[in-house]
Amino acid sequence: MKAEILTILKDTDGYVSGQELCERFGVSRTAVWKAMNQLKKEGYEIESVQNKGYHLVKTPDILSKNELVSIRKTKWVGTEICYFDVTDSTNTQAKSLGEGDAPNGTLVVAGKQESGRGRRGRSFESPAGTGIFMTLLLRPEIEPQNASMLTLVSALAVAKGIEHMVDLPVQIKWPNDIVINGKKVCGILTEMSAQMDYVNYIVIGIGINVGNEEFPEEIKDVATSIYLESGKHVNRAMLIEKIWEEFEDYYELYEKTQDLSSLVKEYDSYLVNRGQKVRVLDSKEPYEGKAMGITDRGELIVDTWEARRLVAAGEVS
Ligand code: BTN
Repeated sequence: MKAEILTILKDTDGYVSGQELCERFGVSRTAVWKAMNQLKKEGYEIESVQNKGYHLVKTPDILSKNELVSIRKTKWVGTEICYFDVTDSTNTQAKSLGEGDAPNGTLVVAGKQESGRGRRGRSFESPAGTGIFMTLLLRPEIEPQNASMLTLVSALAVAKGIEHMVDLPVQIKWPNDIVINGKKVCGILTEMSAQMDYVNYIVIGIGINVGNEEFPEEIKDVATSIYLESGKHVNRAMLIEKIWEEFEDYYELYEKTQDLSSLVKEYDSYLVNRGQKVRVLDSKEPYEGKAMGITDRGELIVDTWEARRLVAAGEVS
């Protein structure tokens, strides 16, 4: 009921009468009053005026299941939402849900991670109150060899989502780091459980530095937050919602062909090092070339002095 009350309060400019809410939910006035008090305790600024009702004055930057459910507009992402104030890693949680019978589109969100994981066994700093740490569980009917492209689909959705919230040039560092003014603001970790020809489940974990006001000395030259770049305090729940709305649209295009043919142009327009010299690190021997864009399968096209090479996985700098 609390999530629904929040939706009603948010959709109403003026006051919502207590009586209206009682009738709507078939509960007593005391029950409505109690729910309002709980919401106030969670941080919502709600004004109650006799004979008029309740009015939501301000929605602070709250992450909770109720908040996420109350603003949800997506079609299938987040049909189930699991929220943790603190967890080890949302990817780990989503994987264990994947082993059970959690449905496609289940979304795991945490306020803080104690063992946030990054790519290549790195850890991912996930302090409370400043970031978005979330993982989507997918049970897609795709071939396992087409799964890695989902990371690029997600990167596009994050870039577009951030653009909805702040007026900043958001870019993608292939394959899936989101950068603003050359510094990383988001990382994505996709993991899969599959057999040779069958995907059991995929989890897409997204970590975004939203409100961080500073970074440790050792990473402050390469990492940033939306706040540090824009000076704006972005509402995390709203950003989450925007990202998954964008994701659903991009995913639909990807799913039709199981490749990125409809998305290459848009992805390339976000590519930070397009037309620039890059160093490909993850082949047996690192090499340099010019990044030209991506292929329909999400490989990075790199022109070296002798040939055109396609980078399927790994890292470029
Ligand atoms: C990277 O840049 O190396 C990827 C970082 C991915 C971090 C996110 S935060 C939510 C999800 N849970 C994790 O443990 N990792 C991903």
